[in-house]
Amino acid sequence: MAKRINDLKVIENKRLNNDFFILELAGDNKIDDFKPGQFAQVRVDGSPETFLRRPISIHDVDYDKNTFKLLIQIAGPGTRTLSKLGNGDTLNLVYPLGNSFSLPKKDEKVLLVGGGCGIAPLLFLGKYIKSNGYIPDIILGFRNSERIIEFEEYLKIGNVFITTEDGSMGEKGYVTSHTVFSTRRYDRIYCCGPDSMMKAISGYCKKANIICEVSLENLMACGIGACLCCIVDSVKGNLCTCIDGPVFNVNDLKW
Ligand SMILES: Cc1cc2nc3c(=O)[nH]c(=O)nc-3n(C[C@H](O)[C@H](O)[C@H](O)COP(=O)(O)OP(=O)(O)OC[C@H]3O[C@@H](n4cnc5c(N)ncnc54)[C@H](O)[C@@H]3O)c2cc1C
Ligand code: FES
Repeated sequence: MAKRINDLKVIENKRLNNDFFILELAGDNKIDDFKPGQFAQVRVDGSPETFLRRPISIHDVDYDKNTFKLLIQIAGPGTRTLSKLGNGDTLNLVYPLGNSFSLPKKDEKVLLVGGGCGIAPLLFLGKYIKSNGYIPDIILGFRNSERIIEFEEYLKIGNVFITTEDGSMGEKGYVTSHTVFSTRRYDRIYCCGPDSMMKAISGYCKKANIICEVSLENLMACGIGACLCCIVDSVKGNLCTCIDGPVFNVNDLKW
């Protein structure tokens, strides 16, 4: 798959709350080769301390408009600078990078699990799965009801369950303690979020013999397999999260 390095136009910068915003981007190239789970390396101009590009997942793709979206959490100077971009501004990206989630097999029951900015790649994945004939269950975890984002978008692709840490919406607690895990049986679970959450889901899947793919968010520098700073220890030896991942079957990880 061809990688490109391009200046893209910001069509919209939509602020969702204090922490999250969505950039909708348009460029000249056709974007019909994007795969769910892939990411872009975003150059942050105007932030002298942000020397390296920042990896951000492809959140959504609009093939009719030929635009795509990045859902970004403000974590530090780089993402804060991106949050100030306005309509018509230019953003330089290297994309699409990394591997992708695999499709479910016929009649498999599928669950998507996301927490924090880990929900970002799951919308594109959910749409892709739905367009292939599956209606997934989706669990999204947030700190409280005020921090819930993109709820309506996920509702369009499947059955959505919410957890909040304070119980202000959905079930109280973390995604990992949601009752679907004891009441429903899945064949395949896709997961993205904090490491502790992905490790807990991975442990559950291994015990229950469920296929599980996680999207790792290891720190990255080059994003193209050159610097080896994103190494993950796997049963196949050391792998680069940026080119061998970010999506891994948990059976391949030494977790
Ligand atoms: C493949 C991949 C996809 C990603 N997709 C998204 C996405 O769709 N949306 C999104 O908001 N973020 C995503 N991230 C995380 C995002 O890249 C970081 O939050 C961002 O680089 C922080 O940059 P900064 O300059 O704002 O903050 P920095 O000053 O670089 O970091 C701020 C704080 O966040 C921590 N941090 C930085 N990067 C990460 C990371 N990868 N994992 C955990 N902690 C980190 C730092 O240690 C520091 O404590 C993704 C990361 C990877 C590797
Ligand atoms: S980020 Fe450089 S090798 Fe992965």
